[in-house]
Amino acid sequence: MIRETKAIIERTRRLGAGWQRLSLAVEDPALEHIQPGQTLLADTGDYLRENWIPVGFDSEEGVMLIEHPLGRTYTPGEVINLLGPVGTPFQLRHGVRHLLLVVLDYEPTRLLFLLHQAIKKEMAVTLVLTGIAREYPISTLPPVVEVIIGDEPETWPNQEDTLTWADQVYLLTAPMFSEERYLPLIYTLSKLRPALPEGFLQGVFDMPMPCGTGACAACMVRTSNGNLPACVDGPAFDVTQLKFL
Ligand code: FES
Repeated sequence: MIRETKAIIERTRRLGAGWQRLSLAVEDPALEHIQPGQTLLADTGDYLRENWIPVGFDSEEGVMLIEHPLGRTYTPGEVINLLGPVGTPFQLRHGVRHLLLVVLDYEPTRLLFLLHQAIKKEMAVTLVLTGIAREYPISTLPPVVEVIIGDEPETWPNQEDTLTWADQVYLLTAPMFSEERYLPLIYTLSKLRPALPEGFLQGVFDMPMPCGTGACAACMVRTSNGNLPACVDGPAFDVTQLKFL
């Protein structure tokens, strides 16, 4: 259930040229159980709350780690009001050993918590970065992650191989490009695999989320089960269940 709490920014760290990582001491201990896929709505003084995306925890320091593109500067000691957790945790299919994370011309932050969790579970993880995702400082990632860089926004080297050996795939792109970037992948996969198991191909919708409770209809995604709010039923949806225009 979504709840209000506050957090103190313990530390800020610059990652590469365009990213920052915030260490947060969160007041509500229930948020220690936040899962990959879930986010927090932070009151940063703007009209709408900002969607803050956890990328993991530092258990030694007892802090939650949040990553952002560099924009606003935060100061250690600043207190931030939060609402969360927002959304449904990402679901890893039973028996996944090879996880493919694909970020098509978008900020990869939404998938990083899942990446770290999968590494802890000793899965083999491949991360594809195309377009602006290539600007992410990959030197901060665990060295066991295989990183593939694609020069074109929609595709990447050895695409068929990576799709063939993956046990599950998470896709991330700008929501407005989801149709033109996800549909070709369904087509490619349909040639490689006789049938796609349920949940195999997940598309992540990083929508603006003014309320986080399903009440304002700002983050609806069209699926075969009707229009569903990404802030409650997402952010990940089975791509084969999506209804494109
Ligand atoms: S943010 Fe209001 S319905 Fe999703």
